[in-house]
Amino acid sequence: MRPSRSPLALARYLRPALPRSLLPQARQLSSQTTTTSPSPPEDPTQNRTILTEEQKKFLDSALRVNQAGELAATLIYTAQTPPVVKAHPHLRPLMKHMYDQEAGHFKTFNELLAKHRVRPTVMYPIWQVAATVLGWTTGIMGREAAMACTEAVETEIGNHYNDQVRELVKWMQGLEARGEELDPELKVLIDDIKRIRDEELEHLDHAVENDAKEAQPYEPLVDVIRYGCRSAIWVSERF
Ligand SMILES: [Fe+2]
Ligand SMILES: [Fe+2]
Repeated sequence: MRPSRSPLALARYLRPALPRSLLPQARQLSSQTTTTSPSPPEDPTQNRTILTEEQKKFLDSALRVNQAGELAATLIYTAQTPPVVKAHPHLRPLMKHMYDQEAGHFKTFNELLAKHRVRPTVMYPIWQVAATVLGWTTGIMGREAAMACTEAVETEIGNHYNDQVRELVKWMQGLEARGEELDPELKVLIDDIKRIRDEELEHLDHAVENDAKEAQPYEPLVDVIRYGCRSAIWVSERF
């Protein structure tokens, strides 16, 4: 028999900060595990995933940096698409496909930030300008440079999402080892990040298939973009 579960433990932990308007959204996540009959008052200390201060800080910074990264990705593609598609009209569907996926990722993290009242990075306007300049520059350099930019960005972002998944899975294993019920919201978050990571790695494959490695000059370009990504991640996690 399944143990009684506390499906909104993570949300409940954060609930004092949730505005009323967002509560139905949070409840929706628990609808598969609750019944319509009135339930007895819950003991708030039972079956509850209590996040430590350190874990909460990790989640805040993870959601903040992910939102910043996805903002940058949508702006890079927005700036790259006109020059790339003008020179290579056959790439229009691919550029649109990658942009649409980035827009979906951005939406996911915007919703998570609003739900958990996490502030965006203070660098938000700076990243908007930097991503647009990067997209525009690599777009006018040509198809290969635009693809090298995607290759560089997705390599860093893929690693970054993998680090987050590893950390969250470690939490999950810790809970299981202590015999505590896993918060479904944590599982949903891990699944979301895994799905988004896989889509980023798909972009990386598209970039390599479309001659990213033919960019001139390939190595300095990719190195600079990767270094820029790592720096932006470091800053956005903290500020
Ligand atoms: Fe993305
Ligand atoms: Fe991507």
